[in-house]
Amino acid sequence: MMCRHYELGLDTGDSAFSVEPSNITFGAGCLAEAGDIAKSLGISRIALFTDDALVATPHVAKVRASLETAGIDVAIYDTVRVEPTDDSFKAGAAFAVEANVDGFISVGGGSVIDTAKAANLYSTYPADFLAYVNAPIGAGLPVPGELKPHIACPTTSGTGSECTGIAVFDLLEMKAKTGIASKMLRPTRALIDPDCTLTLPANVVAASAFDVLSHALESYTARPYNRRPAPDSPSVRPSSQGANPWSDLGCAEALRLIGLYLVRGVEDADDIEARHQLMWASTLAGIAFGNAGCHAPHGMSYSVAGLVKDFQPDGYPLGEPMVPHGMSVIVNSPSVFRQTAINNPDRHRQGASWLGEGDVSDVGDDEAGEVLANRMIVLMKATNMPNGLQGVGYSADDISGLVDGSLPQRRLLDNAPIDIDREVLTNMYENALTYW
Ligand SMILES: [Fe+2]
Repeated sequence: MMCRHYELGLDTGDSAFSVEPSNITFGAGCLAEAGDIAKSLGISRIALFTDDALVATPHVAKVRASLETAGIDVAIYDTVRVEPTDDSFKAGAAFAVEANVDGFISVGGGSVIDTAKAANLYSTYPADFLAYVNAPIGAGLPVPGELKPHIACPTTSGTGSECTGIAVFDLLEMKAKTGIASKMLRPTRALIDPDCTLTLPANVVAASAFDVLSHALESYTARPYNRRPAPDSPSVRPSSQGANPWSDLGCAEALRLIGLYLVRGVEDADDIEARHQLMWASTLAGIAFGNAGCHAPHGMSYSVAGLVKDFQPDGYPLGEPMVPHGMSVIVNSPSVFRQTAINNPDRHRQGASWLGEGDVSDVGDDEAGEVLANRMIVLMKATNMPNGLQGVGYSADDISGLVDGSLPQRRLLDNAPIDIDREVLTNMYENALTYW
């Protein structure tokens, strides 16, 4: 199936794909290796990025002790904002300049890791803030060169940020989520300790796992690399290069593990096997989407999160309304895959099978999207996820605003297997309002 999928490349399409593996250490207790790794990278004074909910946890204590034992000065920045903004990215960069560090370590979820990436970028190559931000919102200028070493230590099993060169934030003046994407932002090393997930609330595990599920399904069904226009030169081939045989490997195993362990890992915090396997699935999906790119569910998620009204989910910090990243993605996914299946029913059918549908050999091409969407909805209901856009506070009256907020996300939308214009996007949001 993999070979057939890549047979029909465009004459004007790319003729090759690049594999940029992340440098990962995975295993229970591996946070204690932070000091040795930092020393091997030549770091003498390191900025430790985390947030106020994590700074007093054993995870940060273990990393800090390991660094100090290795003789490394540690400057702690513990005011990372959950769902970062341009202002919070700038504050992180200002800290890094002030602290005069020669390396970074991030201990936390995607918000923490992304903030450390941005702080590293803007403290190393100062520029107007919008210079490196994705076009058309920013100028999309290339990062001028190598950044300082960055060791990423994820504490949730979802983000994949430790494996990618993407940093996402809310641009306050536009009330829109956008990002910075460059291979240079990819952390130098990732230390992935699955024990970090054992104390996470059920709702956080569920939202994170659905982020993983969508990373894998989006990368697996993305426009194939040889149907994307060839880059002007090979050195500027994007990380979001489309589906390819390398990313397929990670997607397949991540989806299989999600199908086996998602409900178990959410329902029972003592199910160590399930929580460890969800962390491994997150890692595999992170490697995959770091080399293929996501598409419409993530592109649509930016405005779902950015235009939040009063939704406040269980298990997350109270105070400000927020739609956690995984929820802002998964409320779109069944609707999108119903619509994209026409392009490649084989891959949608296979995705459903890996997610627990089992034998799909009698599912016709015109049913593949429906079977996959229904399988996802079964998992969403079983883990108490919101029932579509209405479940996170939106109504039909909000659709045009959601569309306006997502249309600029061309990097993601153009990676989808079908062409997405305003009309298609509107239809995808309308069909995501409610699922059951
Ligand atoms: Fe994501």
